[in-house]
Amino acid sequence: MLQEKIQQYTEEIARFTPQSSEDVEAFRLKFLVTKGVVRTLFDEFKSVSPDLKRELGKTLNEFKQAAENKYKTSQEQFASASQASKREAEDLTLPGEGFVFGSRHPLSLVRKEIVEIFKKLGFTVAEGPEIEDDWHNFTALNFPPEHPARDMQDTFFIKKQDGNDIALRTHTSSVQVRMMENGTPPFRAIMPGRVYRNEAISARAHCFFHQVEGLYVDEGVSFADLKQTLYHFVQELFGEDTNVRFRPSYFPFTEPSAEMDISCTICKGNGCAMCKGSGWVEILGCGMVDPNVLENCGIDSGKYSGFAFGMGIERITNLKYEIKDLRLFSENDVRFLGQFETELI
Ligand code: DAH
Repeated sequence: MLQEKIQQYTEEIARFTPQSSEDVEAFRLKFLVTKGVVRTLFDEFKSVSPDLKRELGKTLNEFKQAAENKYKTSQEQFASASQASKREAEDLTLPGEGFVFGSRHPLSLVRKEIVEIFKKLGFTVAEGPEIEDDWHNFTALNFPPEHPARDMQDTFFIKKQDGNDIALRTHTSSVQVRMMENGTPPFRAIMPGRVYRNEAISARAHCFFHQVEGLYVDEGVSFADLKQTLYHFVQELFGEDTNVRFRPSYFPFTEPSAEMDISCTICKGNGCAMCKGSGWVEILGCGMVDPNVLENCGIDSGKYSGFAFGMGIERITNLKYEIKDLRLFSENDVRFLGQFETELI
């Protein structure tokens, strides 16, 4: 009979004194799950004769309530018990859990290395805006008005305004101009920063990348100073067995101009895929600051001379770490980014 069963189970519930959280779970499985006692009794209740339904329904609901209450209080009892024992087990003298640090971006690591080398030579670090006007990015640097670099193909223009367009800087050479305009020689600084060009994104080109510009202006600065400074830089960065060579080149803002190659860091000059078999890889452009540029910035080109150079941080990083796809630098894949940090912050 249903009534007797309810009676029996009610007593069982009243007697139930769990000793562990496993007992509580066993209680739940016996009484409260879909095929448990409570549901089974409700199913039986459906076939009880109507005259008994009223009385029995009430008892059955009370039984259900009792089962649920018992489960709830037992559960709370063990939850707080386990927390209390956990607290007792805590040893406050143990060292804390370590933080998981992120890692530095490979471009930041290489930029830092470059900056450190030049700092030791007495170069300061300067920065400038990424949104530039035509004067600082082109005109002051001796770019003739029809120079193809001004073309929409290469430059992201923000605003066209007759002779003084606003654009994303295409190189960090603009910071040279700002520095020379706002100070007096001597200048000895490097200028790291992000630059933008309107290029299709591929393994070998990107619409933004990073450069480090260098500028040294004083009385009597010569091409010999340029060569020795850059030779020292390369030996510090890539090792003493690295050779350099200078090839004549052209930039509007330097005269004479050169491109500097280093002996391939991967095959040591024997010829490989990175250097396309030549044994040499180009890493930077450089030259003696064109007197026109000095004059544009208010510096007496009769008294002062200087050298300048500019390199791509991505290119140097590719050589140092043999990275073959530029896109990896901006995809934020932690599997890639986590490989480079060698020191703890
Ligand atoms: N601005 C040049 C570029 O983006 C790099 C460069 C070449 C910078 C020669 C210089 C320099 O300062 O003297 O390709």
